[in-house]
Amino acid sequence: MKVITKPINISFRKLCVSDAKSLFDIESVNTRHPWSVSNFESSLADCGTISDGLLVEGRLVGYALALVALDTADLLNIGIHPNYKRLGYGKLLLNQLLEQLQVIVVSDLFLEVGVKNHIAINFYQSQGFRVINTREKYYSNLEDAKIMKLHIS
Ligand SMILES: CC(C)(COP(=O)(O)OP(=O)(O)OC[C@H]1O[C@@H](n2cnc3c(N)ncnc32)[C@H](O)[C@@H]1OP(=O)(O)O)[C@@H](O)C(=O)NCCC(=O)NCCS
Repeated sequence: MKVITKPINISFRKLCVSDAKSLFDIESVNTRHPWSVSNFESSLADCGTISDGLLVEGRLVGYALALVALDTADLLNIGIHPNYKRLGYGKLLLNQLLEQLQVIVVSDLFLEVGVKNHIAINFYQSQGFRVINTREKYYSNLEDAKIMKLHIS
């Protein structure tokens, strides 16, 4: 019997303040120290924030937020809903964000990641980020952070 598989419909869109609750719902099942709804709201309301949402079959399953300052940017947050992880969607989302940053001539993207978040560190390294420093007791739970950098163009 011939098996016919339907192509998966993937799309991206800019996020807005009204998406904050949906992002929180993903974040709260993804991490033990999630951003609050108001953290998402204020970040999305900031005119320096570049955002991308990833939709699978019309459902918002991932987000990426970066704050731009002149020719550099800080990746503030990225997350993929647990049911959609390890399918290449994080990579697609990051690439979508990088395309937007290139258009506005951002040359370097920085981020902070908890030293124990090995999955995220692997993810970032697989996408070309390099560790440039460590910040001690960076997070409210006193976990250290690695500072990572990606040269974009
Ligand atoms: C980090 C995160 C966004 C990755 O999203 P994802 O869609 O699962 O990642 P991808 O499928 O695009 O993976 C790309 C590469 O990252 C690495 N990677 C991703 N998940 C990994 C895992 N669980 N273990 C090891 N490496 C992993 C691999 O190199 C992978 O390539 P491969 O599948 O060809 O081996 C996702 O795990 C997530 O939402 N984590 C929780 C939130 C978080 O910690 N965000 C970072 C805050 S600093």
